[in-house]
Amino acid sequence: MRDVEDFDLAAGISASAFEWRSRKSRVLGKGIYLSVRLETFINHASKANAMTLTDKINRLKKEKNAIILAHNYQRPEIQDIADYVGDSIGLSRRAMEEKEAKIIVFSAVDFMAESAAVLNPNKKVLLPTLGARCPMAQMLTVDEIKRLKVHYPLVPVVLYVNTLAEAKAYCDICCTSANAVEVVNSVNSETVLFGPDHNLAEYVRRKTEKTIIPIPERGFCPTHLLFQPEDVQALKMTYPDAIAMVHPECTVEMQNIADFIGSTSQMCRYAKKSDAKTFIVATEEGIMHRLKKENPGKKFILAYEDAVCPNMKLNTLERLYTSLKEEKHVVTVPEPVAKKARKALERMFEFKIRS
Ligand code: 13P
Ligand code: SF4
Repeated sequence: MRDVEDFDLAAGISASAFEWRSRKSRVLGKGIYLSVRLETFINHASKANAMTLTDKINRLKKEKNAIILAHNYQRPEIQDIADYVGDSIGLSRRAMEEKEAKIIVFSAVDFMAESAAVLNPNKKVLLPTLGARCPMAQMLTVDEIKRLKVHYPLVPVVLYVNTLAEAKAYCDICCTSANAVEVVNSVNSETVLFGPDHNLAEYVRRKTEKTIIPIPERGFCPTHLLFQPEDVQALKMTYPDAIAMVHPECTVEMQNIADFIGSTSQMCRYAKKSDAKTFIVATEEGIMHRLKKENPGKKFILAYEDAVCPNMKLNTLERLYTSLKEEKHVVTVPEPVAKKARKALERMFEFKIRS
């Protein structure tokens, strides 16, 4: 009897345990189902939200007669909504030539938006995020240029556009990574003060017969410094036919193993024209969106996965929307500074470099 009772008791316990378990798994199942539904809902909602934001931006653009210019490093959703996507020279030229629009939303970093304001002073230029500053552009101060000018009174100053307008005001001519060699070759002097990027200075020195004095001594881009030759060499073991495209802001060691060196838009054009099917890319990761979009049949591998410019990535679709809606942050350059910087930029445009 005892055994039977025990059995009954055990059966009762196991039956209720079974029921409890199955109730638990029903509850659990329902929970999972609900959380999947919730996730699907959130996904749909955020997609709808992203679409709404894009729609809102497009509507505001029309209402306010605005255009969006975006650098090749911008987030994909910003590149996709922009009226023009390009490298620094392409963006400057596009901003300079804009006639119709009243507002230019310049989705990039400070010095690029500043150049637009300098080149087209009648437009309202907006930088979506106030803190989107290029650290390299902060590395060369006006005081340093003035000091060097005293030291080398007859040596012309060529400045990379990655400088602030106040620094540009003290140079003879500007250049970008797309035309640095041609610009330096055009200067009527055997010696040139060149800044702020010491790697670009070295690239120019090797490509010209000039003596280049880098100012400051070791200005650099923290993002391009991340690329290392051993990573490219390892990738080349797996993809022996791959072409290595390297930005001249990368180290000299990186430049030495490059198959092609150029600005971001020059890389895009090179990849499009090339018969090669695989490319190793040594510049900021934002370029991958455009490269893949324009070349669906080709493979692009970023030489270093975490090569992200945090400053460029401060611009988001949300911030761009707020910027256009509230017409902030207006980029202004005092006219006496703008006048001098404009001269240095306009001289650069005498070179017919496509972008
Ligand atoms: P590009 O002119 O090649 O687009 O380069 C700008 C820049 O900031 C690179 O880091
Ligand atoms: Fe400046 Fe480098 Fe960013 Fe270009 S990638 S904007 S040089 S920090």
